[in-house]
This record gives sequence, C-alpha cells and structure tokens, in this order.
Amino acid sequence: MEGVSEYYFSQKLREIESLNKQGKNVINLGIGSPDLPPHPDVISTLQEEAGKPGVNGYQGYKGVPALRKAFADWYQRYYEVALDPDTEILPLIGSKEGIMHICMTYLNEGDEALIPDPGYPTYSSAVKLAGGRPVSYPLTAERNWSPDLEALAASDLSKVKLMFVNYPHMPTGQQAGAGLFEELVAFAKAQQILLIHDNPYSFILNDHPVSLLKTPGAREVVLELNSLSKSHNMAGWRIGVLCGSSERVDEVLRFKSNMDSGMYLPLQLAAVKALSLGPDWYSHINGIYAERRAKVYEILDILSCVYAANQVGLFVWAKIPDHYQDAYALSDEVLYGSNVFLTPGGIFGSQGNRYIRISLCGDLSRFEQAISRIKK
Ligand SMILES: Cc1ncc(COP(=O)(O)O)c(C=O)c1O
Repeated sequence: MEGVSEYYFSQKLREIESLNKQGKNVINLGIGSPDLPPHPDVISTLQEEAGKPGVNGYQGYKGVPALRKAFADWYQRYYEVALDPDTEILPLIGSKEGIMHICMTYLNEGDEALIPDPGYPTYSSAVKLAGGRPVSYPLTAERNWSPDLEALAASDLSKVKLMFVNYPHMPTGQQAGAGLFEELVAFAKAQQILLIHDNPYSFILNDHPVSLLKTPGAREVVLELNSLSKSHNMAGWRIGVLCGSSERVDEVLRFKSNMDSGMYLPLQLAAVKALSLGPDWYSHINGIYAERRAKVYEILDILSCVYAANQVGLFVWAKIPDHYQDAYALSDEVLYGSNVFLTPGGIFGSQGNRYIRISLCGDLSRFEQAISRIKK
C-alpha cells in the first residue's frame, strides 16, 4: 500500500466538487466514462432477464457458455481471431480487475513488469500492489508512441515477467504501427516475457479493430484484455474479458476464482446481446464521437495546442505551448480561469508532462460551452 496513492481522478473529482459547491459549474472534460446509452436491445434484455425466476444465484466462475461463445464470435467477426469459447476466454468484471488478477497471478515479490510511459496508471499500481516493481519504458512522439525494443533488449530484463502494451494507446490515441505487433511477439519470445495487451479502445473512431492475438505465434506469449465499457457504452456494468491460451487463462482463473464470483446472469445475457450487434452500432457511436472531436480540436486551437489528426479512441492528446511550465499549469489555468477541467498528461507518466488529454464523453453543447468559456 505504501507504493500507491489515491487515484488521481478520485482526488481531482473532490476538488471539482468543492468548486461546484461554490457555484462554478465546472465542465469536466477529463474522464473517459461514456455518456451515451447502450443499445436499447441490451437494456431490454437486462430488464426481461432480471424479471425471470432463478436468475439471482451465484454464477460459475468462467461465465455462462452463451457469454463465452458471444465473445468468441465477436473476436472472430471483428478481429478475425478464432478462440475456443470453453478454454481461451475468461469473462471479467471489467478489464481493470483483470489487470490486478494478472499481476497477482504472475508477480512475486521483486519481480518486474514493463509499463508504458505515458500509460494507464492502473498498470503500475496493480504491479506494486502485487509486490512487483513497475519499470517504465518511454513512449515518445518521435517514435509514434511505440516502444524502443532494441533499447529494452539491451537493458537488464532478468527480473521482468510481464510487459503491458495498449494499442490503440491511451492516452495518445495512436495505433500500433506496421510491424510493431510482430516485433513485440518476437521480443516477448526471445526475452521470455508475457505480453499483456490491453485493448479496450479498438472500436472507437476506428474502422479496423486489431487484436494482438491475430499476430502469428502470439498465443504462446500474449494475454489480451478487452472490455464492453467503451465499445458498448457499458462502463458501469463492469463487463470485460481475458483471452489467450488455455494454460494462461487457467492460471489467471486459479487466482480469480479465489477472489470473486461469476457476474449476475441477466448482465451476462445482456452482454451477449451487446456482442452480437452489427457494424451499424459502431458507426452510430463513432458518428457522434467524430462531431465531438471536431469541437475538441477547436478548444485545442484556442489553447494553441498541437495534435495529431489520426488519433483513435475516446480522447484527444495534444502538446501544450512552450511557455507553460508543464501541463498541470495549463490545466489549472483553464480550471480556475474558465471552469473547464482538462487532464494534465503528467498523470500518465513523465513523458506526458507537456501534453493534455481531452475526453470525448459529453454532449456537443458542453463542448460548445467550454469553447465559449475558454475564449473569454
Ligand atoms: C487503457 C485502459 N485500460 C483499461 C481500462 C479499464 O476499463 P474497464 O472499464 O474495462 O475496467 C481503461 C479505463 O479507463 C483504460 O483507459
């Protein structure tokens, strides 16, 4: 516990709440919690199933067969990856808990895990909570936010058991460049490291979702996490999945089955419905996100920030002007001067110090209001 502090957003939300109590009505463009509803059929499935008898008991630890099959069909249809629903799929109560389960399963005291800087803060906290040591690998704009595997191979990796990777990458919105996944698989094999690919953003503003498991030979060295939180607007429902070889899935299950129980059956059946949605669903939500992104670009232009236009996922990542000391300074200036909250990139690691991240979660009018406040 000494190595971890309260999650940044949990603290910041308290600060925003106290500003709101003073009547500031802060527009929070920080957190990536989808505001759009799930598909209506998903909600009606939950409602119908919840009214049936016999649905309230404990569920099996591996999820119901229908849910595992739905995940397998989804992977086949959209990622062209064939997975055995009985052995290669483990439903999770959100992918965040999967990160913790993986760390508890594979890390002993003193073991190391490579984590991206910038990257999702949970990787390093979960590694530390499991008794391991997070070792950051830098991602930079110059390398299109992809790791320098040669430099890593030249360092001492003798204690490294896991490497977290995440493409499309949060917070930078970059996709894996050509050849990166093949290089990662070769690296993991050569160094005997298990790659954990965290893949929750592949459907957002992206027509070609990619799974690392599609790469030849990946199954031997990859566990992939996925989630319905962003792709299906179901963040609060807590539905995720772990995919990989049956041996690895069984190892994680050995830990997880001692930690929690299966999900509420109506939730699992509603998730089956969500996973069966066709491409129209993704086009529908992406049409909305694209309109919002255009407004976010306006905000960034007003702030003289520089951004890549090919980003995917729920956020836009942008470089701040040189005259700010760092992105915390810009974020505070906009929060206290305009009552709009933008996430300072430094919370994702030191490589993010000169960047800010703006979430696409909020309706257009909020972005318009933020524009007029910041302009003033
Ligand atoms: C990179 C990344 N991984 C995982 C998660 C957690 O997602 P879930 O809701 O499936 O736990 C998030 C959520 O913000 C994220 O940004």
